[in-house]
Formats: sequence, C-alpha cells, structure tokens
Amino acid sequence: MKKLLVVSLLLVLSLVAFSRVTITMTAGAVGTELNVLYEQLDKFMRANPDIKVSVMPMPNSSTERHDLYVTYLASGEKEPTVLMLDVIWPAEFAPYLEDVTADKDYFELDKFIPGTVKSGTVNGKIVAVPWFTDAGILYYRKDLLDKYGFKNPPKTWDELVKMAQTITAKEKNMYGFVWQGARYEGLVCDFMEFLISFGGDVIDDAGNVVVNSKAGVNALQFMVDLIYKTKVSPQAVTTYMEEEARRTFQNGQAVFMRNWPYAWALVNDPKESKIAGKVGVAPLPAGPAGRSAATLGGWMLGINKNATAEEKAAAKKLVKFLTSYDQQLYKAINASQNPTMMDVYKDPELKKVAPFMVDLYGMFVNAEPRPRTAKYSEISDTMQKYIHAALTQQTTPQKAMEDMAKELTKVLAGK
Ligand code: GLC
Repeated sequence: MKKLLVVSLLLVLSLVAFSRVTITMTAGAVGTELNVLYEQLDKFMRANPDIKVSVMPMPNSSTERHDLYVTYLASGEKEPTVLMLDVIWPAEFAPYLEDVTADKDYFELDKFIPGTVKSGTVNGKIVAVPWFTDAGILYYRKDLLDKYGFKNPPKTWDELVKMAQTITAKEKNMYGFVWQGARYEGLVCDFMEFLISFGGDVIDDAGNVVVNSKAGVNALQFMVDLIYKTKVSPQAVTTYMEEEARRTFQNGQAVFMRNWPYAWALVNDPKESKIAGKVGVAPLPAGPAGRSAATLGGWMLGINKNATAEEKAAAKKLVKFLTSYDQQLYKAINASQNPTMMDVYKDPELKKVAPFMVDLYGMFVNAEPRPRTAKYSEISDTMQKYIHAALTQQTTPQKAMEDMAKELTKVLAGK
C-alpha cells in the first residue's frame, strides 16, 4: 500500500514537472531591483507550480539593452517571453509584441495612472503593461544644507550652484552635484530636464525640430559650465550613469544628485550608505523659464509575439502578478520604484517608507515624456552624440545644437 502511494506520488510529481512551462524574463539590476524581483518570482512560482520563470539579467544601460532587444526580436526568437521595456520603446517594438488590448480588464488598467497606460499604447493597441514609473528628482544632503544655513533645497539651478559652491569650499573631498553625463539614454533624460526648464524643447507639437533655440544653447552651456566653469560637477560625470552617481552620493562625496527614485532605498540603508537618514528629496530646480521639469521614465512589461500560446498564457499570469497592487507596493517599499497603480500611493505603508513618492505624486504624474515616435532610438542616438561632444569639449554648445538640429531633421524626414 505504502509502495503504491509513493509510486502514485512520483507519477503525479513527474506529470507536474512534465507539464511545467518555462518562460524567460529580462530584468535590470539598478539598486536592489534584481534581488527584489527574485523574491517576487519565488512567490509567484510557489503560487503557480506549473510555471517556471527564468531571469535573463540585462545591462543597466537602457541603450545597451535596447540594442540587445533589437537582435533578439528582429531574429524572430520566441525568447525572452516577457520583456522589460523602457517607456520610450513600445512604438518601435510594437510589431514584435503581443497585443493585450483585450486583456485590459484582466490587468485592471483603469486603475493605472493614465499617462503610463498611454506609454504602452501604440495606434490604439495596448502592447505593454506599466510596471513602475520614474521621474528625475533632486537628492540633497539635509545635514549639510542645515550646517551652512540653507533652510530649503534650491528652487533654481543658480541657487543650486551657489549652495554647492559654498558647501564644497568648506567640506573636504566633496563634489557639488552629480548626474548622468555618459553617452547613453540617461544623458538625454538629464538634458531634457535642463532644456525644458530653460524654456526649450526638442520637437514641437507639429513635429518640427526646435531644439536649436536660444534656450537650448543656454541649457547646454549651463551643463558644460557645471563641469568647467562653475565647477560644481566633476569631469567624471561625463562617464556617469545612474549607479556611478548613486555610489558617489551614497559614499558621502556629493551635496546634490539628480537620479530616479530607485536610489532612495539604498542611500537610506545604513548597511550600504554613509549618509542614511541625512537625505532629502525635492523636485529638480527651475531654470530661467521659471519652471522645473522632470523627465518621464519607467518600465513596462510586454510579451513576445513569437512565444507559444502556452507560454503567452503563463506570461500574462506573471505580468498580472508583478503589476498587482500588492507587488507594486512591495517593489515600491523594497526597491523604491514608483507604483503605476494610483491607489498604491494612498497606502499608509508607502508614505512611511518613501514619503517623497506620495508628496511628489503630482510631479510624477506630470513628468515630461520624451518624443513618442518609432524613430525615438535614432533621435536619442543623435542627441547623445552632440550633447556628449559638448560636455567633453569636442565642440561648442552653439555648434552642437546646430548640428543636432540638422541631423534630427534628417532622421525625422527618413533620410
Ligand atoms: C531609467 C528610466 C528610463 C530611462 C533610463 C535612462 O531607467 O526609467 O525610462 O530611459 O533611466 O538611463
């Protein structure tokens, strides 16, 4: 009898193993994001023993990740099954992604911040589900601002420069302001914030390239000056991505940092950070246009169109799980990545752990999108090239903007 039981149990187990579907998912690894995802996937697989999810870690640089996706998707591969997609990609990758418009209710998309759903909608079809949203924010050292008599974080870029100069003149081994100046997607995000706060833009509503304006040149000149004239930023920012800026700030080597919300979890972790508890978050300063601007970022989950029906069904369950209220809250608390579901912002636990997410909700919702077009990658590459050339003094801001505008016009015209 006992033998029979063991045999039947083994049979059941092997049947489960046999019918187990394996799907793959790409993932990034800034801050605590990858560890948090592994925890979430363990939970998902325990609740769904018939699904195995294997993670494909990706480079943190959005630009490098994009280029890998082009290779995978263009070759018609059925993997990765689930793709973590930057908000700027759905238009370009839509032809390779499963149309999930009919699953709108299953994913409860009416509970999401409308702008984030819009990022995943291409020609009326939903091809990606918003996972977390991002906006550029200013991190500052509360303790140092207090010490030097500054009651509030800077409201304008000029104020930021003055505060940074005052503090770094007295404090040893301290930079004023770190940000993302390497030649990759993050540079475009930072540039857009300066540009819009100076009153400029890249492409107007009619589709014309308007980047080469007085405001545009002044914005780029201001960025160059941060490194070579006002000298509040180290020359090394021209090689910094998000994680380099975070590590410098978290080591106590900078007064101000521009970054995304994810950095909050680690800069405040006493095991990781020299400045835990000494950090404040504010909207980025305003420029001469009298307004401040935060670039809209964030990541979505899309499903590979070439996956099998069984894999797609498993992928939908996974996407639903990861974007559910509980998992968004878990991710917000442990990886400090902003929820896309509106109600999560009302959760008292979120307010306790990441108060800035709740306090700056309006700013997150109104962040500035980058140009929405299937040609975005080419536009971004062109911008990166000229902005970086100016930041490394290969060209002047004036010439960089002229050349950038000419090339962008060609890209848009398809030449
Ligand atoms: C963040 C943003 C993403 C952006 C990237 C640039 O990951 O969420 O939208 O493109 O940073 O580095």
